[in-house]
Amino acid sequence: MTHSRAPATRKLGAEEPNFDVVHDRSQFGSAKWANQWDEFSPRVEGDGLISLWTADMDFRAPEPVIARLREAVDHGIYGYTKRDPHHYEIIKSWFKRRHGWNVDIETLLPAPAIMPSVAAILRTFTQAGDGVIVQAPVYSPYFQVVRENSRKLLINRLRLTNGAYELDLEDFERQAANGARAFLLCNPHNPAGKAWTREELKSLDTICEHYGILVISDDIHCDIRLSDRPHIVFSSLDEAAAAKSFICTAPTKTFNLAGVPAATVSVADRKRREELFQVMQASFMLNAHYFGRLALEVAYSSGDQWLDSLTPYIRENVNLVSIIAGSNLPGITPMRPDASYLVWLDARELDVKVEGIHRFFVDRAGVNLYDGRVYGPGGEGFIRLNVGCPRSILKEALGRMARALASL
Ligand SMILES: Cc1ncc(COP(=O)(O)O)c(C=O)c1O
Repeated sequence: MTHSRAPATRKLGAEEPNFDVVHDRSQFGSAKWANQWDEFSPRVEGDGLISLWTADMDFRAPEPVIARLREAVDHGIYGYTKRDPHHYEIIKSWFKRRHGWNVDIETLLPAPAIMPSVAAILRTFTQAGDGVIVQAPVYSPYFQVVRENSRKLLINRLRLTNGAYELDLEDFERQAANGARAFLLCNPHNPAGKAWTREELKSLDTICEHYGILVISDDIHCDIRLSDRPHIVFSSLDEAAAAKSFICTAPTKTFNLAGVPAATVSVADRKRREELFQVMQASFMLNAHYFGRLALEVAYSSGDQWLDSLTPYIRENVNLVSIIAGSNLPGITPMRPDASYLVWLDARELDVKVEGIHRFFVDRAGVNLYDGRVYGPGGEGFIRLNVGCPRSILKEALGRMARALASL
C-alpha cells in the first residue's frame, strides 16, 4: 500500500479525522498487515494482498489520544502506573453519556484486556468440567477459553432466519439444563454485529436465573452504533440480572487501541467482586499498562467527536458492501450489522462451488477475509469482512472480488 494517500472528497477542518487516508501499516509488525506466517494471513511479501480480516481498523486513533501518548513517549520514562478514582469516573461518564448505563463506580474492576478477564472469571466461579454456553457462530477465542480452561463447551447455535440471526431459546434451555454454570454472551454479537434487544436479553436472563447460571457479557463491540438499536447492558435489565453478571468493556475496538490495551469488568455482586479481585491480584493482572491506562482515559473523555465522525463513515462502508454485493457479487449476501465494523457475508453456495470461498478470494482476488469456519458451527460458508478501512481500499477489494467471481 502507498503511504498517506488522501483522496479529497470534501473539505475537512484541521481537527477532523480523515478516514480516507491510507496508511502503510507494514512497518511496526501489525498482525493484519505485516504477519506473513500463519493460516490466517497467507501473505507473501510483495503480493499486494488486501488484508481485511482481523478486527482492528486502518485508522489513526483520535488526535487527543495520539497527542497525549506522544507526550508520554517523549517523556521517556515508562514506569509503573495506577488507575486512580478519576479513571473510573471517566469510564462511568462514558457509559452514561453514550449508552445511558448508570454503572456504580464501586462495581468496576481494572483488567488488562477482555479475554484474560473472561478466563479469570471462569477459573474463579466455575470448576473443571462445568458447562459454559457460547452462541455460535462466534468469536473463536470463546471456544478456546472454555476448552483450554478444562470447562465443558456447550454450544447454543444461533438460528438463521431470513438472513438474520435469532436466539434459539429452546436449545439454550437444553444447554442450560445440561450442566451449565456460566454463559458467555457476546453483546453485540461478533461476527454478525447483532445488537441483542432488551426482550432477547430478558429471555436469556430468565433461563439463566432458573438454572443458576452466571452471565459473562463481552461488550467490546458496543460503541459504534450503525442501526437505531441501542446497546442494552445485560446488568441494566434488573437487579437479579446485575447480581449474576460480569460486564467486560474496553475502548480498544471503538478507538482502535488494541495495541495499548486496558479494560474494565463491572461486577455488581460485592462478594463475587472481591473474590474476582483476589484472583486477579494473585495472577498479577492488576498492574495497568502505562500507555493503555492513559489511552483509555483520553479516549473516553475526549473521543466522542471522533467516534461521531467514524460511525457514519463505517455506515457508508457497510452500505457500499450491500450495493456492490447486490450488483457485482453474485452468491454473496451481506448481513447488516447493528454495531461495529464487521460484515458477515453469506457465501454458502459459492463455498461449495469453489471448494472454499476464503481460499478462493485469497488466490483469485488477492483479498484476505476471515474464514467463517473459524467461528465454529454455523460459520461454514460464511466470510467476515472488516470494513474499518479507507473507502478506496474497500472499493479496491470489492472490485477484485467481483472480477474473480465474474471469471468463474
Ligand atoms: C467479541 C470480542 N471479544 C474480545 C476481543 C478481544 O479482546 P481483548 O483483546 O481485549 O482480549 C475481540 C477481538 O476481536 C472480540 O471481537
